[in-house]
Amino acid sequence: MKFSLNTTNPLKQHKACLIVGVFEEGKLSPTAQMIDTASHKALSKVIKRGAITGKIGQVLPVYHLGDSSFEHILVVGCGKKGSLSPMAFRKIIIGAIKSLGTSDATLAICCLAELEVSKKSLSWKAQQIIEATSDALYRFDLFKTQKEPATALKELSIHVSEAKQLKACELALKQGQAIAESVSFTKNLANLPSNICTPTFLATQAKDLAKKYRSVSVKVLEESEMKKLGMGALLGVSQGSAEPPKLICLEYKGSSKKQAPIALVGKGVTFDTGGNSLKSPDSMVGMKYDMCGAATVIGTIKAAAELKLPIHIVGVIPTVENMPGGTAYKPEDILTSMSGQTIEVISTDAEGRLILSDALTYCERYKPDVVIDIATLTGAVVIALGFHATGLISNDETLAKHLLEAGQESNDRAWQLPLWDEYQEQIKSPFADMANTGGRSAGTITAACFLSRFTKKFKWAHLDVAGTAAMMMGTSERMATGRPVPLLVQYLIDRASK
Ligand code: BES
Ligand code: MN
Ligand code: ZN
Repeated sequence: MKFSLNTTNPLKQHKACLIVGVFEEGKLSPTAQMIDTASHKALSKVIKRGAITGKIGQVLPVYHLGDSSFEHILVVGCGKKGSLSPMAFRKIIIGAIKSLGTSDATLAICCLAELEVSKKSLSWKAQQIIEATSDALYRFDLFKTQKEPATALKELSIHVSEAKQLKACELALKQGQAIAESVSFTKNLANLPSNICTPTFLATQAKDLAKKYRSVSVKVLEESEMKKLGMGALLGVSQGSAEPPKLICLEYKGSSKKQAPIALVGKGVTFDTGGNSLKSPDSMVGMKYDMCGAATVIGTIKAAAELKLPIHIVGVIPTVENMPGGTAYKPEDILTSMSGQTIEVISTDAEGRLILSDALTYCERYKPDVVIDIATLTGAVVIALGFHATGLISNDETLAKHLLEAGQESNDRAWQLPLWDEYQEQIKSPFADMANTGGRSAGTITAACFLSRFTKKFKWAHLDVAGTAAMMMGTSERMATGRPVPLLVQYLIDRASK
């Protein structure tokens, strides 16, 4: 897909598909109004016939409008006239592009950047159009022997009315493309099944990234090195699997200045059976996505490298497979983590926090400015926030605020939950320094409480993406989303500009 910007009068673009808006009660967007006038009201006549009422999500393709020379217009519903919410804007674009994807249009001119979106600039809208378009056209058919025919659409050009606005939009174009590519990359990696996407495979992906970008380097710690470091928590989880564990350490240097790095830590459980605390068959479907945190870290670093952001990032990815069996760890086993703290295993299905604990301790050696972990950590976050918001928990209010803002800005939102001391009580163990589960109540918070015991030496935030990194787990429509790559890239862009 090619993305571009143009200032050409849409009335002179008869051949391309023009995407324009209609509000409820038949009110037209400015470009739709121009087309209506130029076509002697043919457009409003079609709309008045009731084929489209203007509700968000509706689309009406119009071919050969009246006796005008417009060959193809796509009218999309934009809701009540007035300012749109950022999410509604995204929905409108996705609806339009999904419908276009099934048509024969090769070039589309999107005239929707003129819609008003509350508190958002033109360049924000241009960037969202690119990211939403890429999301709408995404497919994963690597393993289908019968591929669906490719979409005819080759180029989407965003119409901006004034030439003086082009400069700001060019940066949006660049950022939108880099984010869209990284999101697709992350989705592809996440959608791979665990018989292909093993810990070793993830390590190869990280090495490939380092080959592609000079600014990126990688080091992969093997089981023997992890043993030497005393990573008993990570190795405990891995011991039941035939796949060797890896600790992938990526580094991105976008500036020659010496800067304390931003550390990104991604949970990379390539399949989570629950281990000896075995999951039920229904809840096991979707567990190939338990490495979405890892895929997000690789994807985010890719975007930073693509955008040449002048910052320093390290990516630490603990990756294992969580299997049951005769060699696997068991409930009531006691593990000694790299930090020296001991952990009583209550559930072998609470494995994410175990591998993260050693990865977080390992981060200390980088003397990081901040550490952000990304993990499909708890089913409880889906109960609390559903599929719309990532759960955010932090030991630093400023860091939390920055991440929440980046989520708002990127339309990839997070919502904060508390990390109060009272919750720490729930992970007491009679036999070890802590237990790896805290009971049914506040499961997302007690998981973070566990992690907080390994993050005392730095500013840290935890993103629980169990509800947002993949949609409809357990159904035939399950699919990775690439979240929270947009949030994190926005955070990095903000950091780079400070
Ligand atoms: N990978 C799961 C969390 C998960 C659940 C992700 C649903 C995506 C969708 C995690 O390892 C897990 O099993 N968590 C347990 C923790 C419990 C045993 C304390 C859970 O949420 O049930
Ligand atoms: Mn689990
Ligand atoms: Zn898991």
